Amino acid sequence: MKHLISLHHLKIEDIEKIFSLAEKLKKQLKEGIPHKLLAGKTLGMIFTKSSTRTRVSFEVGMYQLGGYPLFLSSNDIQLGRGETIHDTAQVLSRYVDGIMIRTFKQSDVDDLAKYGSIPVINGLTDLMHPCQILADLFTIYEYKKTLKGLKLAYVGDGNNIAHSLLHGCAKTGMDIYVASPKDYQCNSEIVEEALEDAKMSGSNVVLTDDPVEAVKDADVVYTDTWISMGQEGEKEERIKTFMPYQVNSSLFSKAKEDAIFLHCLPAYRDFEVTGDVIDGPNSVVFDEAENRLHVQKAIMALLMG
Ligand code: CP
Ligand code: NVA
Repeated sequence: MKHLISLHHLKIEDIEKIFSLAEKLKKQLKEGIPHKLLAGKTLGMIFTKSSTRTRVSFEVGMYQLGGYPLFLSSNDIQLGRGETIHDTAQVLSRYVDGIMIRTFKQSDVDDLAKYGSIPVINGLTDLMHPCQILADLFTIYEYKKTLKGLKLAYVGDGNNIAHSLLHGCAKTGMDIYVASPKDYQCNSEIVEEALEDAKMSGSNVVLTDDPVEAVKDADVVYTDTWISMGQEGEKEERIKTFMPYQVNSSLFSKAKEDAIFLHCLPAYRDFEVTGDVIDGPNSVVFDEAENRLHVQKAIMALLMG
């Protein structure tokens, strides 16, 4: 594992390694045991989109590992004024030990890795959000003590979260049902990759436009915003189309009684999810958010240590 760009590129052993280190680092943090695995190392964090969780968890995580994080907003660095990814990759590789990037185009992340000589971590693109989904799977594992054979229902937009969930579930042997309106289904290349992974793990990958079919007897119910960063102009139209896909108590009641609810956050109550579900007893969204910290520390330590 040289980079963390897409979950499709990871082996199941990589995921197991990340989870086992994340578990250890989480315990050490809670017990106040220092774990400065990246003492003296630096992480450049490029953001061309907003962030609360990703920025704070990477920044705090790097500090806890004994390293130093640099927040590089695209408004402030020359990338935002047209310097190429090629030159940015070459230059940053001379200064820092790793790069985390949140941006629009997946190809920019691929190019950073291609032209630079240091590990690159994908902190979200329009196509994928692999760090989020590793934290999600880790959270599910904490609650359910297994991943293999579980059913996860993702209801909503066939977006970056849905894509990385497809990869992550198919890799780890979880059945995944994605319910989206016809014009908002997942990217077909990602679906192909997930089907490839599912063949190895024995999981089922099902795409549907029926939210009830997806949620029926699910162990995990997941949704995300209907309006991702960059889609603000489509707000009215999207809200109309997605309303039948709202995760409310009526839809959630079709899942298993002990089903857990996940959302990557930020959440928009009364759009993709109602308050009684996200603030209800089956919701684990803040454990999920916390686990971004532990899982990403493991990722950084494994890539940059
Ligand atoms: N879930 C997530 O990535 O949140 P931020 O956009 O706040 O980083
Ligand atoms: N799909 C959302 C996820 C935010 C963490 C977006 O891309 O804006």
